[in-house]
Amino acid sequence: MIKRLLKKVPFVYIWYKKLQYKRLTKENNLSQDGLLQSAPTTQLNRHPDIFEDLGARFKDQPIRILSFGCSTGEECKSLSTYLPNALIIGVDVNKKSIEKAKSKFASEKLSFYHIEAKSLHTLGKFDVITAISVLCRYPESKLIQNIDSVFPFSIFEKSVGYLDQVLNSEGYLFIRSSNFRFMETEYNKKYKVISFKGQRQPEIFPKFNKNNCRLEGFEEREELFQKL
Ligand SMILES: C[S@@+](CC[C@H](N)C(=O)[O-])C[C@H]1O[C@@H](n2cnc3c(N)ncnc32)[C@H](O)[C@@H]1O
Repeated sequence: MIKRLLKKVPFVYIWYKKLQYKRLTKENNLSQDGLLQSAPTTQLNRHPDIFEDLGARFKDQPIRILSFGCSTGEECKSLSTYLPNALIIGVDVNKKSIEKAKSKFASEKLSFYHIEAKSLHTLGKFDVITAISVLCRYPESKLIQNIDSVFPFSIFEKSVGYLDQVLNSEGYLFIRSSNFRFMETEYNKKYKVISFKGQRQPEIFPKFNKNNCRLEGFEEREELFQKL
């Protein structure tokens, strides 16, 4: 009820969310820019189009997958049903979510870590990385024309840099529901865009250019990238 009222006055809502980020950053001992999307919303089999594609692409291969921003583990659990031989590692900056993920889904092939993006290199290299609904600030990004003071492009670029560091060459990076375009980052020269069969109809998500200005009505079409 209060949240619904707050959303009617964007600048008050944004101020309220900033307080929430501060609290979560402190609670989880994170560095200043360590927290991206804060909401832990997730569900089983939320993105069957990409899970099916990865399942078909890698079949029974024992690949290593990183779910960046795994929340309570449902994304990892879903991936494991399509890729039964993959080793899947879920990471999240929210301690409580990681504890829940461990208690519900941890197994020989599924493990979970409370870790920040800058420390991902301690987990080794991956063949596939998913970053779904994490490289964003939502719903505030719906309400603003310039995202600079909420989630600037520089933090997006720095975060994808940490993902790039731990992705093997020829590996796949899947980014969905992010506030910026991966191909606008400095990493674009190292990747090619892959369109895949069965990709869901493009959806509109609040997108901004590298100068933090809103791109009106932008539909997400480029989501899967292969490292050259
Ligand atoms: C909306 S959930 C997405 C869950 C899952 N990927 C999905 O799409 O179902 C966003 C998650 O990203 C996590 N998160 C935010 N900043 C992060 C960061 N820097 N590194 C890892 N996880 C982060 C949040 O704690 C939250 O659990």
